[in-house]
Formats: sequence, C-alpha cells, structure tokens
Amino acid sequence: MGYFITFEGVEGCGKTTQIKLLSELLAARGIHAVLTREPGGCPIADKIRSILLDAENRALSPLTELMLYAAARSQHVTEVISPALEAGKIVLCDRFTDATLAYQSFGRGIDRGVIDTLNVQACQGVSPDLTILVDCDPQIGLARARQRIEATSGPREERFELEELAFHQRVRAGYQQLAVDQPERFLIIDGADTIEGIFATISTQVLARIPEALRAVC
Ligand code: TMP
Repeated sequence: MGYFITFEGVEGCGKTTQIKLLSELLAARGIHAVLTREPGGCPIADKIRSILLDAENRALSPLTELMLYAAARSQHVTEVISPALEAGKIVLCDRFTDATLAYQSFGRGIDRGVIDTLNVQACQGVSPDLTILVDCDPQIGLARARQRIEATSGPREERFELEELAFHQRVRAGYQQLAVDQPERFLIIDGADTIEGIFATISTQVLARIPEALRAVC
C-alpha cells in the first residue's frame, strides 16, 4: 500500500497552496504523488462538486448535502484513491472524511453516527495515514477566500463562504476536537504563520513520516 495524506482546515486557511508546494517538493525529489481533492477528483465527483458549491443551491437540505459528499467520495475512492494506494503511490488529498465530520456534523449538526456510517461505506477501507490540519481563524480565512472568489473568472463556488461566521467557528472547533481525539494521525499547523513557515513544518514532518520503502517506488 501507498501513503495517504489529507489536508484540512476552514475556508481560506491556505491548505491548497501548501498541498501544491508539497507536491512540487516531492516531485523535485523524484516522488510523483497523486494530487487530488474533495469534493471532486474525477469527472463524476466533479459534477457533484458543482452542485454542492453552487451558491444558487441554498435550498440543499443538510441530509441531501451529506449524501452528495458521500456519493462523490465513493466514486473518488473507487476511481482514484484506492487504485493509487494499491499501486504504492503517495496520495495528497485536499479535504477528506474529516471535512464531513467538521462541516456536516459540527457545522450542520447532523448526528455523528450517520456520518461515520456513510464514511465507512464510501471509503471502502481507505483511511488517511496522516492528516495536516491548517488551523486558522475563520474571520481571516473567509476574508481571503472571498478575495479569491472575487478574482476568479470561473464558476462562483461560494455556497459555504456565504454561511454565517458562527457556522465556520463551529467547523474550526470541530476540526480542533477531531485532532485532539486522534493525535497520532493529526499534525496541527498554525495557519497564522507565513506560507514559508507553514511549509517548512509540513515538509519536514512529511519527509520524516513517508516510509522509506515508498520513496523508491514513487
Ligand atoms: P474547497 O475545495 O474550497 O475546500 O471547498 C470545498 C467545500 O466543501 C468547503 O466549503 C468544505 C466543504 N466540504 C464539506 O462541507 N464536506 C465535505 O465532506 C467536504 C469534502 C467538503
């Protein structure tokens, strides 16, 4: 099996920049990781993503939203993540199951047992080896995310950015709780640090954790 690293955090925390930097660093060392994201990562899941993030879909019920995330994940795991891990690759994924717990359980208030059951079904035995939580004040993250959305010419993926601050504060607290509950899997990074400072910590920690055997096959 390969090595599965997920990146998590509130809107605008900087995780997408960090995942790209990490993938470039690994590539420079001859390690060609699979870089992917949720929701999305394959054509069918990308179609589900556009439903989930479209600001016009304000009427999506919390349960419909949850099931769409689970459906997208099931397809993504089947098509992309499982085959890559079985081929011995390193997979870097921008959000995964912890996002569903943080947003749909801590954020929306859906019963955790329902989410755990759906995650088990969608993941088909796959679970992250390492999860990097870029912890960030939602007020700062949302301001960054809104700037990015204003600057983009593509579809406005802003359904969550339009949620009230209290929602994002529950999501942040949820992520912090998940990290405290599983300290051996989570690495918590202070998102208030500079891009370079955050990357120095992430790269050192990841290079130390990737199993030696994997470095040769990637
Ligand atoms: P992002 O690609 O900008 O991170 O946007 C994905 C959005 O989807 C973000 O607001 C978090 C949300 N999300 C959930 O609510 N549940 C999930 O399971 C996942 C993967 C993402």
